[in-house]
Amino acid sequence: MKGIVLAGGAGTRLYPLTLVTSKQLLPVYDKPMIFYPLSTLMLAKIRDILIISTPEDTPRIEELLGDGSKFGVKLSYAVQEKPEGLAQAFTIGREFIGDDSCAMVLGDNIFYGNGLNHKLMDARKDAEKGTATIFGYYVQDPKRFGIMEFEKSTDNDRSVKVISVEEKPKQPKSNYAIVGLYFYPKGVSDMADRVTPSARGELEITTLNDMYLQQGRLNAQLLGRGYTWMDAGTFDSLQKATDFVSMIEQYQGMTISSPEEIAYHMGWIDDEMLAKSVRRYGKSPYGERLKAVLEGKVII
Ligand code: TTP
Repeated sequence: MKGIVLAGGAGTRLYPLTLVTSKQLLPVYDKPMIFYPLSTLMLAKIRDILIISTPEDTPRIEELLGDGSKFGVKLSYAVQEKPEGLAQAFTIGREFIGDDSCAMVLGDNIFYGNGLNHKLMDARKDAEKGTATIFGYYVQDPKRFGIMEFEKSTDNDRSVKVISVEEKPKQPKSNYAIVGLYFYPKGVSDMADRVTPSARGELEITTLNDMYLQQGRLNAQLLGRGYTWMDAGTFDSLQKATDFVSMIEQYQGMTISSPEEIAYHMGWIDDEMLAKSVRRYGKSPYGERLKAVLEGKVII
């Protein structure tokens, strides 16, 4: 399975912060925002990843992440000339995806929770068998999101049956937002080709999801109380994400979403490679916590 981090966009809601830099390079506490979505794909054991960003920001992101070898993954880069919608990722990534299934995560989405890797692996397996997966998260202001309506279930561990998906509905049918993480079976680029621009002129991911729904090939998983999902695209949510990560990391002393740590636990990089990163990050808290991983103090 392939993976895409969609990390372009205009970032207008964070002006003037994002006038000369990418939103995805801004800090969420102790690390750049893009480390979080990258880690999410890595937790699904995806090691072949395409990063899509703007013409200006792609070189900067590449400077930060390189070819991925320090994270035990293979990173490639592609440019989205204009932010014309999330579904465009799959036409830009057509060659990269080839005949494979593909997951996509948005560059400003942060996921955290024990057991997330199991949910991701379930979604991956379903995609490999021909069914797409979206994830739902309870929100108080459903008019601002893509929203899913689904058959109620009390079993939080199983996928739920989707009834409808709607982008920013005036009369939301549920309070469950479709978060910025999607798993699709092979053929997603051809499906994305058939998405036509919405009234706001974007190639909507909700339209793509609806196509899978109409074909009976769309599952949803709920991220319940044990999970945190944040999109760090506004000043308030960026501040909240920073507060959240700092609280967990300082309280537990463990790092959230470190690609080096995940790679090390997965066995994708060895001691020597991790030691190199520890030296590179020096005395920063991120470097110190990575050192604890290298010394074998952090097991899971
Ligand atoms: P948004 O937050 O919807 O858009 P944005 O990042 O351009 O910000 P603003 O609304 O403040 O102008 O995008 C969500 C994520 O998806 C974000 O990480 C950027 C990315 N994105 C793209 O890379 N390309 C696109 O065409 C769109 C619409 C978003």
